[in-house]
Amino acid sequence: MSEVASWLDTIARIFHWIPDLATPEQVQSALREILDDPGLELYWWDWEQERYVDVAGVPTPAEPRAGPGMALSRVEYETRRIGALVHDARLHDVPEFTDTFLPLVRIAMERDRLHRDLVAKLDQLNASRLRILQAGDAERRRLERNLHDGAQQRLTASLLGIRTLAVKLEDQPELARLARGAQEELQGAIDELRELARGLHPPLLARDGLAAALRAGAARASLPVELDLDLPRRLPVDLEAAAYYVCSEACTNAVKHARASGVWLRAVEAGKTLTVIVRDDGVGGACIECQDEASGLGGLVDRVEALGGTLELVSPEGRGTTLTATFPVPSGA
Ligand SMILES: Nc1ncnc2c1ncn2[C@@H]1O[C@H](COP(=O)(O)OP(=O)(O)OP(=O)(O)O)[C@@H](O)[C@H]1O
Ligand SMILES: [Mg+2]
Repeated sequence: MSEVASWLDTIARIFHWIPDLATPEQVQSALREILDDPGLELYWWDWEQERYVDVAGVPTPAEPRAGPGMALSRVEYETRRIGALVHDARLHDVPEFTDTFLPLVRIAMERDRLHRDLVAKLDQLNASRLRILQAGDAERRRLERNLHDGAQQRLTASLLGIRTLAVKLEDQPELARLARGAQEELQGAIDELRELARGLHPPLLARDGLAAALRAGAARASLPVELDLDLPRRLPVDLEAAAYYVCSEACTNAVKHARASGVWLRAVEAGKTLTVIVRDDGVGGACIECQDEASGLGGLVDRVEALGGTLELVSPEGRGTTLTATFPVPSGA
């Protein structure tokens, strides 16, 4: 009975000593402590590389070797390896070691391994999301520059030509009217193109930052936009771009769908967090998942989450819509 009690005690100590989300080093030193075996070494089986790695992630040349007085126990299921333990050889004479202790260590090691794999995969996923967005943004900047320096410049030059023509044709009213009509059309096309280029990636955002770009956007909007900005400094370019796109999509939606009388936009950086809140007083009923295809709000979720942020939409029927994005501001930013 006392042996059982002492093994129950050991098991309890495993749970007590190995903290949640323990590092491999912590697990190894906890096992050393529990078994009173300072030479104990723990190895994980690396599935991808098909070899053992030690607690620091350093691969072992072949099988981990047990020195004098030590023994090697494999930690594995019938179908797959989990790891290995080099320990005091005398532990082999204790039946509970193989029957109870090793299976427990097996569960703990596998759980730990799965957790670390998951965290690594999530990091990779977010990094690749961010790379896709950055590639998209670079393309938008390139298009914006090309439109600005190419088509827009040429149309503006043509506009000057037509303007001169209209002046020269003043004594021929019918032709002058046609020229003025063409001039107005062309002016409209230039304005639309400028608006389109700005929407792609406003140059003001890169040059003067989020607050300036939001002020300019609000001044251009076809609904009154009340601003409450507390943005004391420039933030990383991806962060400013994401916050800007949240505001611009929310304002565009308010104009397109909400039948609102106005928009209220608050952007504040405080305590390592950037929060952007855009509210309208329109019909509500907005929904992120309702669209089958990629949509404005769905795209924002990707953009915000790729930076470790969260996006929340509150839009009860008939009671307006509030979109809130919260981003962590990277330390050192
Ligand atoms: N402020 C709002 N007020 C009322 N309804 C909204 C509002 N914003 C969005 N919606 C509703 O939610 C849907 C999803 O919006 P979302 O921005 O994702 O797509 P969209 O505006 O229709 O298309 P896109 O943004 O791709 O041009 C809209 O189609 C609209 O029905
Ligand atoms: Mg939209």
